[in-house]
Amino acid sequence: MSPKTVVVIGATGLQGGSVVDEFLKYPKDYRVRGLTRDASKPAALALAAKGVDVQAADLDSGCEALARAFSGANIIFALTDFWASRSKVVEIAQGKGVTDAAAMISTLEHFVWSALPDPMELSQGRFYHVHHWKSKADVTDYIRTQHSELWKKTTTVLFPNYFENCLTDPKHYLPRQVSGKLVREFPLGANTSLPNVAISDTGKLVRAVVENPQRYFEKSIAFYAQAISEGDKLAKLAKGSSRALGFAFEYQKSTPEQFRKRLEVAGMTPELSLDFTEQLLIFEFFGNVYASHDFVQAREVSWAKHTLVFVKAMPSHADDEYVQIPGLTLMTWDEFIDENREELLAKIVSANGPSRW
Ligand SMILES: NC(=O)c1ccc[n+]([C@@H]2O[C@H](COP(=O)([O-])OP(=O)(O)OC[C@H]3O[C@@H](n4cnc5c(N)ncnc54)[C@H](OP(=O)(O)O)[C@@H]3O)[C@@H](O)[C@H]2O)c1
Repeated sequence: MSPKTVVVIGATGLQGGSVVDEFLKYPKDYRVRGLTRDASKPAALALAAKGVDVQAADLDSGCEALARAFSGANIIFALTDFWASRSKVVEIAQGKGVTDAAAMISTLEHFVWSALPDPMELSQGRFYHVHHWKSKADVTDYIRTQHSELWKKTTTVLFPNYFENCLTDPKHYLPRQVSGKLVREFPLGANTSLPNVAISDTGKLVRAVVENPQRYFEKSIAFYAQAISEGDKLAKLAKGSSRALGFAFEYQKSTPEQFRKRLEVAGMTPELSLDFTEQLLIFEFFGNVYASHDFVQAREVSWAKHTLVFVKAMPSHADDEYVQIPGLTLMTWDEFIDENREELLAKIVSANGPSRW
């Protein structure tokens, strides 16, 4: 059998880059086409050097141009990057363009859509400013309601907080140093858990899904390795484990208003700072909403039951009631610290400027 063609949007980025790296490991089974707006930039040239068929495509260029970039695809990994435009309108238009184009591809067997859950639904209408979730959820709805044939071949992956945010955006995700102590100010209670994953595991997840397609068509996957609070996470990094960096650590809960103001001082518009804050408050008010039985669970639930916190509106269920992805091993925070210890330490020391949340 000839190898399947996997087309990856965002191939130069974190999610797409991980998908590219995973499928490149199996050249007998897969050919990888990576899309970028600029095929001459260093990241794109590096992909080409690894054997990726790099093609230029802009998500703003409309359905016909995207269909050309998807031509002959058997599998498409599709994302939109809210933070490139910071606009819900743009992200929805891009997502619709991508799905309209994917629906035109007669060779397509599997469409893997990178998304976030509907914040209105999850928060029972309480948090309605979380635009960068809602726009992706609206595109998911668009596929389901407007492209029924494509929907039959679609798996939606709900992404969580990345461990790697500490490396790519240390000023905002690592604690600051105050008199030799690490301090993290955050608007959630010390025990409020957030779903987290090493985004470098995206490829593993996508391959597991693509290699067992019938099981995951029309499903949404909660992609996270660990539900862990920001306080616990950074305490482990600073002092709480054998892998720690050796700092004293203090967690300070700020009010949502204080947090929003800090986001604005760090350069976010008031609208985006509300968007960013409300997405966090969903977990404070409604618990780990990713642990819903509406979603296939990517993590090992039998292991995670010891760390999961079910609260308030979230009824607890027996683990065996979850639909899970068998055999998928995802990196834990401890392992991530191990792997990135030196870089984390260097970033804590260097990221001590004024732009802090
Ligand atoms: N960070 C988190 O914790 C987190 C959590 C959940 C969800 N997300 C979501 O993840 C998405 C970002 O994915 P990522 O983390 O992989 O981003 P990333 O590492 O910043 O990479 C963004 C990718 O998107 C591509 N891209 C951006 N605009 C494009 C356009 N107009 N046309 C074609 N390609 C375009 C870029 O390609 P070129 O520059 O090469 O063209 C790049 O490869 C966002 O929508 C965000 O909401 C993030």
